[in-house]
Amino acid sequence: MIDASTDLYCVIGNPVKHSKSPLIHNACFKSHGINAVYLAFEISGIEDAVRAIRQFNVKGVSVTLPFKSAIIPFLDEIDPDAQKIGAVNTVVNQNGLLTGYNTDFEAAVAPLRKMMALCGKTVYIIGAGGAAQAVAHGLSKEGARIRIVNRDAAKAQKLASQVNAEWYALKDIEHIDNQKIDVIINTTSVGMHPKVDAMPVPDSFLTPTMLAMDIIYTPLETKLLSTAKNMGCRTIDGLSMFIHQGAAQFKLWTGISPNTEHMKDMIIKGETS
Ligand code: ATR
Repeated sequence: MIDASTDLYCVIGNPVKHSKSPLIHNACFKSHGINAVYLAFEISGIEDAVRAIRQFNVKGVSVTLPFKSAIIPFLDEIDPDAQKIGAVNTVVNQNGLLTGYNTDFEAAVAPLRKMMALCGKTVYIIGAGGAAQAVAHGLSKEGARIRIVNRDAAKAQKLASQVNAEWYALKDIEHIDNQKIDVIINTTSVGMHPKVDAMPVPDSFLTPTMLAMDIIYTPLETKLLSTAKNMGCRTIDGLSMFIHQGAAQFKLWTGISPNTEHMKDMIIKGETS
């Protein structure tokens, strides 16, 4: 029941109306008997939003596009990993002290780690934006051999230099030897609803021994994943990373590790009901 002592949590971003975060966090608060509510706020200015967080004593905040980097100067402390990635997706309010964390990078490797040891594996990251940065940081901590492929070659080069990786321009992808690739991860928006027939790489780049992962979760099975599956590849869908980043946020806020399989079922059921 919501009453005068209910704690407030929220996601801030623009847009946020499509966000599944309220669904998973409210269900977790309920199942753990925590008197808290989680709302979605579509904001236009990050400085005002952080002032409101302080004023209304919002206990925890998920930060989404396009504010993950912009929020950093307005927080009191930044966790070293978030600092290195240059992006915050989680804020913890501890007695008025706002600390920024990044749970995306760990979430990217958690589902992969369940399927293989990543140390020494060759992983191709498609894209070099904010999401790619978090994924690359997570893989770098695991000791993977990282390769960055991006449409804008300068951005690929910049990210590659930060994580000691090799890089390629997307237009040169047919010249890459794809026989020794263990994992391919799409971090671009290519294949996302409504352009569901688009692929971030040509079919010919995939081989049956690769594991293909997508961070897109609308649709759950992207063209990249369905093509890879038909070829015999193992696949990881975008909901896995989304669930793990949310579970890590919940842990930072409450100290409780929620059941990620239940969280995933809830989203899939919520979408089909
Ligand atoms: P995010 O923070 O979600 O990663 P972003 O920083 O805008 O978002 O990055 C989007 C990524 O998707 C970039 O790597 C972008 O490539 P460019 O750096 O060349 O712009 C990639 N991307 C978006 N649309 C693309 C398309 N149609 N083809 C290839 N890459 C695309």
